[in-house]
Amino acid sequence: MKKGVKIVTIGGGSSYTPELVEGFIKRYDELPISELWLVDIPAGEEKLNIVGSLAKRMVEKAGLPIEVHLTLDRRAALKDADFVTTQFRVGLLDARAKDERIPLKYNVIGQETNGPGGLLKGLRTIPVILEICKDMEELCPDAWLVNFTNPAGMVTEAVLRYSNIKKVVGLCNVPVGIRMGIAKALEVEPERIQVDFAGLNHMVFGLDVYLDGVSIMDEVIEKMANPDTSVTMKNIVNLGWEPEFLQALKAIPCPYHRYYYKTKEMLEEELEAANTVGTRAEVVKQVEAELFELYKDQELAIKPPQLEKRGGAYYSDAACNLINSIYNDKRDIQPVNTRNNGAIASIEDDSAVEVNCIITKDGPKPISVGDLPVAVRGLVQQIKSFERVGAEAAVTGDYNTALLAMTINPLVPSDKVAKEILDEMLEAHKEYLPQFFQTVEA
Ligand code: G6P
Repeated sequence: MKKGVKIVTIGGGSSYTPELVEGFIKRYDELPISELWLVDIPAGEEKLNIVGSLAKRMVEKAGLPIEVHLTLDRRAALKDADFVTTQFRVGLLDARAKDERIPLKYNVIGQETNGPGGLLKGLRTIPVILEICKDMEELCPDAWLVNFTNPAGMVTEAVLRYSNIKKVVGLCNVPVGIRMGIAKALEVEPERIQVDFAGLNHMVFGLDVYLDGVSIMDEVIEKMANPDTSVTMKNIVNLGWEPEFLQALKAIPCPYHRYYYKTKEMLEEELEAANTVGTRAEVVKQVEAELFELYKDQELAIKPPQLEKRGGAYYSDAACNLINSIYNDKRDIQPVNTRNNGAIASIEDDSAVEVNCIITKDGPKPISVGDLPVAVRGLVQQIKSFERVGAEAAVTGDYNTALLAMTINPLVPSDKVAKEILDEMLEAHKEYLPQFFQTVEA
């Protein structure tokens, strides 16, 4: 009999945690978790206690022998962990609001994981994830790191290149969101839809779509072009696509591609929102406040439906399915971020890609796609260049490297604008960027 599974969730005070707990409860028979440790930092202690109490009520209601521990002591939690999930936001939503607002001043897309916002989130996040990796090497060297923290692509790339943790998988809910969106558009059960995913995180394409194993690409392209049936996430405005563009592309873009192939319209929408309802982070702060009020209710012992208002809905399916399949060596197919190993020809072997993988007890085995369509492989390579240079800047704290990353991002129009944005954003996030502002010891 296998011992009970120890799960550690760093960023345990997140409003998403009830979805993760629900996912573990649903799968307990196959995935017998004995300990769930929710870890946060002192600034998140109140949230940790609110969410942690709800997690305990959910487990108790399910009548399962899962010990739920709440702690600010990451090292105590990590000891002998089997899986470590990471879902933290350095600087919280206020930092994200700056990532979304400052680029708009320069007529550049302001977004959580793309463009200047994605770079600065990476610069804030990567040093923290690498510290977590160092703790894991010492305290749970055989554990799997399952990372949700954004920008998940750049973060997974950084862990692969700058840590000794090789058992790392980057996760996102965009692929499951695309599959659910196509099923909804076609009015069929999601289980009947399969998608050949390939690309990078938030830069992934559906190279083919199957209904009961039969390719239905033409029908799906027609649905994707129509704003009424096109696929998006709660956090991305649904602008549809030009039918002829998709018909020529012969692949399904992900919702985030709108920032690259509809930049003009998305920027107009962002500027309008920033001057009216607020940026996405400012809107989400309201949703967060509502959720935590709900979570305080001692009578609540389920994941509240209001959580579906967040863009990250269904992420627990991705996380729990992955952990379950590794633990049980299920060898099912899931889209995850992992070392390319030749799966996508135009991306280097040792970089992280988001692609369908066979999930085994030894982790994801990427399924080769040959290559991406000629029309889009250049953008994917450019974003991979951006991720690699951004990760290097995060690790070195070198200003020029950060400027190089900002300048080569396709959403930034020139090196001059890149420098203006970078200078303002580094200053705005100073307290979370010690690698750029550490004073040289006299
Ligand atoms: C999407 C992405 C996540 C992102 C989230 C934002 O689903 O997959 O990586 O963090 O939405 O949602 P929010 O509700 O915070 O804007």
